[in-house]
Amino acid sequence: MAFYFDEPSRTFNEYLLVPGYSPETCVPAQVSLHTPLVKYRKGKEECPITLSIPMVSAIMQSVSDDRMAIALATEGGLSFIYGSQSIEDEAAMIGRVKDYKAGFVTSDANLSPDMALDDVVRLLEEHGHSTMPVTEDGSAHGKLLGIVTGRDYRLSRMDRSEKVANFMTPREKMIVAPDGTSLKTANDIIWDHKLNSLPIVDENDHLVALVFRKDYDSHKSNPDELLDSHKRYRVGAGINTRDYAERVPALVDAGADVLCIDSSEGYSDWQRFTLQWIRDHYGDEVKVGAGNVVDAEGFRFLADCGADFVKVGIGGGSICITRETKGIGRGQATAVIEVAKERNRYFEETGIYIPICSDGGIVYDHHISLALAMGSDFVMLGRYFARFDESPSNRVMINGSYMKEYWGEGSARARNWQRYDLGGDKRGLSFEEGVDSFVPYAGSLKDNVALTLSKVRSTMCNCGALTIPELQEKAKLTLVSSTSIVEGGAHDVMLRDTNTFASRASVDRDR
Ligand code: IMP
Repeated sequence: MAFYFDEPSRTFNEYLLVPGYSPETCVPAQVSLHTPLVKYRKGKEECPITLSIPMVSAIMQSVSDDRMAIALATEGGLSFIYGSQSIEDEAAMIGRVKDYKAGFVTSDANLSPDMALDDVVRLLEEHGHSTMPVTEDGSAHGKLLGIVTGRDYRLSRMDRSEKVANFMTPREKMIVAPDGTSLKTANDIIWDHKLNSLPIVDENDHLVALVFRKDYDSHKSNPDELLDSHKRYRVGAGINTRDYAERVPALVDAGADVLCIDSSEGYSDWQRFTLQWIRDHYGDEVKVGAGNVVDAEGFRFLADCGADFVKVGIGGGSICITRETKGIGRGQATAVIEVAKERNRYFEETGIYIPICSDGGIVYDHHISLALAMGSDFVMLGRYFARFDESPSNRVMINGSYMKEYWGEGSARARNWQRYDLGGDKRGLSFEEGVDSFVPYAGSLKDNVALTLSKVRSTMCNCGALTIPELQEKAKLTLVSSTSIVEGGAHDVMLRDTNTFASRASVDRDR
């Protein structure tokens, strides 16, 4: 007879954290979000790779390329570059992250010569950068025609409609350096010529990047950035259970710090074979995560197969239709809670701590706090990161609002059949398990991650915890009734910006 779980499976939204005692020392500025990425003998040795923040970006075409990886590693997290591309292309992305030179900035406030002083003021307010390159087409990599800094205009004396071309410092008066200049040389030029910034241009005089005096020691301005022992950004890479004998060596050679088997369902011999092949060829030197699983048995299986971390979650992703198409999955909160318990048992038995990652279904920032409190060491997010400037997808205007494209790896667009592969000769998707969609554009990764994590730190302080392990130990969680979920949002007030009345009755009706 089939096995029945006693309890229904639940989502994050069905839980709340109940505050614990917060001593006066428990303030957000003192919170550490450092968390282990791969397994280690806890209490006996240091974790070989520790994240500075508990966030990794999803192994998806519409989320994790080299640009996203650089932006996220700068903040202390890690991207897993998508594996649903050729081995050469994936290795090249890894290579670009490892070769990236911190301190060379792609300008995000740019002008064209026919823009006006008014635009300068607007951009200054929007981005806060007073140095604005002037390019032929107003883009970050257009032909360089000049530069505008605070020294080029006097707001009190000049007309706001004055054209940029009339007051910019023109190209012929600028000092620039050629592409390929090292950061050290760039800094020497900046000091020798008393500059505030140095544009780097290619052989056609197109702008490549800016080096700023204030970024002289750029590592100091990003204290959380995730670096390897050679001070290069760390980056992860997705692999599949088919072509690992070719893909893994290429990714390892390109410098990937950690791999992850990208599969919708990981309790299988295919994962065992893949992990075994990596252990046979690289021992413990190559770190590799596996998944996804949603119960204790699945975790134990992957732990015994040698996974360095285990990813949890089936069917909870925002673009996921696996539960509808195949009827498999489990509420994300229940899955995390059960796997975390088994992980702790495994640690007590073996002394080896295997980090777990809650993957998919994070809708609100507080879901991250819940996932951590329930035992996750870090979370993987797709939709969240897809909304930012740094994601690889297009930004499009829909009904007057900017959106970013976001599509599932199981959608016809991604054609990532290896993720859903169950062996045999068949290659290709038989049916879709993901959708092609849009998400509201949200600006830069840096600003959003900072805001999200300020909420996580604040919640941790409410729970009296200064570290993630402390949160996991001290957290008190309660299930909520559907009525109290309504109470948790705005209710019984007229919302100013939409002119709609939020009430329990109307929310109930709309549910
Ligand atoms: P999100 O953060 O809720 O958008 O979920 C992202 C996660 O959904 C990824 O990390 C994957 O585990 C999962 N995922 C990605 N593509 C698909 C798909 O097409 N179908 C089902 N799940 C997917």
